[in-house]
Amino acid sequence: MADNSKTLGEGAAVETQPAAASFQQAIVSNPPSAIAAREAHPRPDNPPSALIQADGLTKIYESGSSRVVVFQDLQVEIAAGEMVAVVGPSGAGKSTLLHLLGGLDRASRGTVKVAEFDISKLSDVDLARFRNREIGFIFQFHHLLPEFSAVENIMMPLLINRSSSRAARERALSLLEAVGLRDRATHRPGELSGGEQARVALARALVARPRLLLADEPTGDLDSKTSESIHSLLKEVHRSQRLTSIIVTHNERLATICDRVLHLEDGQLRNG
Ligand SMILES: Nc1ncnc2c1ncn2[C@@H]1O[C@H](COP(=O)(O)OP(=O)(O)OP(=O)(O)O)[C@@H](O)[C@H]1O
Ligand SMILES: [Mg+2]
Repeated sequence: MADNSKTLGEGAAVETQPAAASFQQAIVSNPPSAIAAREAHPRPDNPPSALIQADGLTKIYESGSSRVVVFQDLQVEIAAGEMVAVVGPSGAGKSTLLHLLGGLDRASRGTVKVAEFDISKLSDVDLARFRNREIGFIFQFHHLLPEFSAVENIMMPLLINRSSSRAARERALSLLEAVGLRDRATHRPGELSGGEQARVALARALVARPRLLLADEPTGDLDSKTSESIHSLLKEVHRSQRLTSIIVTHNERLATICDRVLHLEDGQLRNG
């Protein structure tokens, strides 16, 4: 198979550095260009109290004679800065809900407002732009691109946003350092452990400085010790990056470190 790994940049050798003690420390030690880019997306001093407001949210899958009503008329309100867990049995619609809130899929009925955007009204092009700028998504099975190295996977959203290859690589390397994987930059996903892949997926989700982090079972396939380290990292980046985070999980320990837990079951969403 062709080696695509050089198509994203110069493929420069990467120095091995000790992992940053904390995410905040790594961000502080970012090169000036990365800091400047961060300031290009300032957080408002007084963000609206509800960053996400969904009303009458309904998702029905229909094909031929089959009809799956996942949920109807849900109301969801998430405040700016909250870290919320979504729990519920398999098939309850947790991934579906996350996809609707992040604009990866469209609701059958209802509205979703995220900050100043009414995403139910955006065109496909504007919705894609909204996702690239505002949302960091960690998928249920990471979905790293196998042909590309760790650093290239992290760079990808920036390249899609037309950043220069050099700026994207600098930013991606600073994030790799922040998640403790600077010395794995040139490894492909197949050469990384499950926990390391989860860290790369987290770095990729953060690379474009989103306001909202959506994570779908970020530690679903990891052992308890590795999961704990990813949970700590999630909590740390949530705080240091001033994120609003929604995390779908079956992991009770992860749910307990969140500010609030939403239960989705039998088409109902309840707090508690
Ligand atoms: N494209 C689709 N077409 C039809 N039905 C679908 C589609 N995608 C999901 N569903 C159905 O919608 C329901 C909710 O699926 P979803 O993936 O959101 O569940 P989940 O709560 O994330 O489950 P898990 O914990 O197993 O990941 C399921 O019954 C599923 O079969
Ligand atoms: Mg799911």
